Amino acid sequence: MVSRTSMFRSIVESAHNSLKGKNSVLKNIPTTTTTNSKKFENLNKGAKIEILSAIKSLKSYEINSKSVNDRRRDLFKKLNYTQQTVAEKTGYINKLNSIDTAIGNNQKFVDEIANYAISNYGITKTDFDSLENDLKSNSSGSNYRVIEALGHYTRDWTPGSLSLELLPIFEYIASQLEILIDYRQKKDTVLIFPGSGLGRLAYEFAKWDYGAVYSIENSGLMNLFVDYNYSKDTTKSHIIQPYIHTNSDFYSTESQFRSVEYKPIGESNKPKNLHIVNEDFTTFEIPNRDQFKNVVVVSVFFLDTAENLITYLDTIEKLSKPSGKVERGYWINAGPLKYGSAAQVELNADELKLARKELGWVDAQDVYTIYDPLALGNKTGLVGYLTDKESMWQGYYGLNLFTTSRKENKSYKDTTLG
Ligand SMILES: C[S@@+](CC[C@H](N)C(=O)[O-])C[C@H]1O[C@@H](n2cnc3c(N)ncnc32)[C@H](O)[C@@H]1O
Repeated sequence: MVSRTSMFRSIVESAHNSLKGKNSVLKNIPTTTTTNSKKFENLNKGAKIEILSAIKSLKSYEINSKSVNDRRRDLFKKLNYTQQTVAEKTGYINKLNSIDTAIGNNQKFVDEIANYAISNYGITKTDFDSLENDLKSNSSGSNYRVIEALGHYTRDWTPGSLSLELLPIFEYIASQLEILIDYRQKKDTVLIFPGSGLGRLAYEFAKWDYGAVYSIENSGLMNLFVDYNYSKDTTKSHIIQPYIHTNSDFYSTESQFRSVEYKPIGESNKPKNLHIVNEDFTTFEIPNRDQFKNVVVVSVFFLDTAENLITYLDTIEKLSKPSGKVERGYWINAGPLKYGSAAQVELNADELKLARKELGWVDAQDVYTIYDPLALGNKTGLVGYLTDKESMWQGYYGLNLFTTSRKENKSYKDTTLG
């Protein structure tokens, strides 16, 4: 079976090749600093590299993506004349041309993100020149990541209601928060979403009047998209065509060229309690932690991104364990356990449960949705992740949903409410 990763492998390889020597995409970067430049100067080197790599990959999207399409044309030429004629009569070459047009249209959106980042951080050509060597191996610098981020709009920022991928997860988290947090203590509660991607869930729960919601994401690329989402008030919508980067598994050309409409949330619609943090979650500390009584970490499709899962567990414990004025700590999880290739430990759901117990967590609920599909409100216990529901290949995940409390938690009976 073709995996989510291998589907894009050829795209990635081609993208990496075409990035070499393509500095010309950076030709319009300002040469002089602005008042915003201090914002960039004050970042640490890692954060600077993330942002510059992200801008470079955004600016290179069209070149990289079109080079994949050009390779298709080269391969097509290997057919003999009669074979080419048959294929052309199906509209295949026209389709490749339309893909180029769609890539050009996507680039207009992606350019807005990159240009906003350049002005927001007052970035100059000198910034790129001084970190040029560090940008080469950064993950935000790959075209695969740009394509993945475009796909995230179908998951996160569908107009109006939540996407089918996020809705069951939202409902699970919402139901658990209702049980865990006394409504009189909402303002005394901080929610932390590590690895928040394009950030829709953090945004939705920020609207629920919790004291603070931290949306923590360490990918420079994701963060530039998130920054733009809350950058300025605009009535302008963007049309994104996220499915054009592969020709595989479509029933029709129409299906491949489907678009999603995206309208940025804007600065004034950003909930005041929502904080976007561009940082590695394992280094995050809650600002003014003592103003809260309850800390809830909400991990969604996140745990399996860990190289060192135990460090993630330690971080979640450190953030939420009652101390100072914090009286209760909770952790809600929704996600699969699909580890990456460099994971130093790969616990299954049973092992993860034992690890929680060992580390002082007391489970209120632990659901394996494959065996208990009703927890997701469907018949299969599966949910998609950037899954194209019109594709002949579709990937779905069973989830481990759990809600757990620190063993040190004070009872609500022993606290002043309201
Ligand atoms: C599989 S994605 C899930 C995104 C989002 N939670 C969702 O469900 O759509 C995992 C995200 O975690 C981010 N991530 C991975 N390790 C991280 C870390 N140490 N700190 C912050 N974010 C991290 C990745 O960049 C990625 O955006």
